[in-house]
Amino acid sequence: MKKLLLGYVVVVTFTFGENNVTFSESNTSCATNYTCGDRISDMQRMGQAMQDMQSGFFYNNFDIVKAGAEDMKKTIVGVKPVKEELENTDVYERWLDNNTAMKKRIQRRIVQYSDDIISRFGDGDVIQAVQVYNKITLECMKCHTSLRKW
Ligand code: HEC
Repeated sequence: MKKLLLGYVVVVTFTFGENNVTFSESNTSCATNYTCGDRISDMQRMGQAMQDMQSGFFYNNFDIVKAGAEDMKKTIVGVKPVKEELENTDVYERWLDNNTAMKKRIQRRIVQYSDDIISRFGDGDVIQAVQVYNKITLECMKCHTSLRKW
């Protein structure tokens, strides 16, 4: 991961505000230009996907569960470190960022769990589906609780 992060070339340095960061269109042409704002909207989509799956469980509606799980899969794979983290030259901060960085392993697990939820719920095994759902919640919270501000 570290090597990967160090491989990025610093082109422009942006100043980030506390939370909602917006960039003008001209700054978003580069594929590695994933911003804090992009990550927040991905996080919100995943929060919505969790709610959708849960509603699907309660209303016993497979289509809603499936739509939530598919949305989760699509979104989780796009989450990555933001520019600010990639460009950080402070060794200690990089180490901290790396500890809470979105890893391929986490993404693979969440994609797998989402598929499991679809197949379990589709087979009528609601209890198993809910247990897998809880595993996703744990993956989310493992990262969130290690970010100091949580
Ligand atoms: C590898 C770390 C990591 C994982 C895993 C992770 N998140 Fe996050 N999450 C973050 C970070 C970092 C933020 C803060 C975003 C920011 O301020 O840039 C965040 C913020 C959020 C927010 C608040 C967004 C807002 O409006 O401020 C929600 C909701 C959220 N995550 C949902 C989830 C869900 C649901 C999952 C699991 C499916 C998940 N996250 C997994 C790192 C993670």
